Amino acid sequence: MTDYSDFVQGLPKAELHIHVEGSLEPEMMWNLAQRNGVSLPFRSVNAIRQAYDFTCLQDFLDLYYAGMQVLNTQRDFFELADACFRRAERDNVRHIECFFDPQAHIERGVPLAHVMDGLSRAAREARQRGVSVSLILCFLRHLSERDAFRMLENAMPYRAEFIGVGLDSSELGHPPSKFERVFAAARDEGLRLVAHAGEEGPPSYVWEALDVLGVERIDHGNRALEDPVLVSRLRRDQVPLTVCPLSNLKLAVVDDLAVHPVKRMLDQGLLATVNSDDPAYFGGYINANFVQAGKALDLTRAELATLAENSFAAAFDCATCGASG
Ligand code: ADE
Ligand code: ZN
Repeated sequence: MTDYSDFVQGLPKAELHIHVEGSLEPEMMWNLAQRNGVSLPFRSVNAIRQAYDFTCLQDFLDLYYAGMQVLNTQRDFFELADACFRRAERDNVRHIECFFDPQAHIERGVPLAHVMDGLSRAAREARQRGVSVSLILCFLRHLSERDAFRMLENAMPYRAEFIGVGLDSSELGHPPSKFERVFAAARDEGLRLVAHAGEEGPPSYVWEALDVLGVERIDHGNRALEDPVLVSRLRRDQVPLTVCPLSNLKLAVVDDLAVHPVKRMLDQGLLATVNSDDPAYFGGYINANFVQAGKALDLTRAELATLAENSFAAAFDCATCGASG
């Protein structure tokens, strides 16, 4: 197959694993730093880009949290999310379930209202353009469960603005079971549950996300393939995996896209989807993830179409496709 780009562009898709803060392009970071009088440890937009050379998840997270210092006002959050959603629309994305990391802003003294009002307005305007958008609030796993509880409580006045909770940030040393009680509380609020697991962490973290937290989707899940019993479970229950090939390459989760597990996931009957994670940092939005993984793994049109169809099957509340999870 040669015309990957045209074929992928023609596929309607749902993006289920994108962090809005990870769509902060260097140009926007630079401009917001000027506007807000924030000093960055970079001398130019190019210098920001050149710093994106990671050897592991923590390397990336250090820069990701440093970059978001420029986000302060409701307008900043609106502009960030608005650009993120419009960029996805250009890739023929019809539905977005978008992560955000409010603890990373609140702990810098940014009022939660600035975050929520800015993101919610961008989501509302996207819906008016015909793309369905939902927000998922992520807890930072390097912080305590008590912090996560406080976050959940503070977010309750905005309950209507997000559909679920997730778990992200530094995986190793922070197993899902650390958050058992706060996920139970979120479930009691009627929130949908997802968690990053098996990106760098072992298969036991994927088991815990499923059996202790009760999540409905696994974000990444690469290392689940090391455990055949876990693979059977994921296949039996058709648990969606939101896989992010370019992220995995940039963070050295895989050495080469030619050995990326997404093809093996499909071959083993798993409900894999392709997503962009933090596209401003990892060199490509959703179509670039489809095209580059497709070429490296020699995926067929049928496999690419299956990945796109899976994204709607895995969606929680896609207004434009009728999915209801
Ligand atoms: N936060 C943003 N991107 C992330 C990733 N790939 N893994 C864990 N936490 C994240
Ligand atoms: Zn992620």
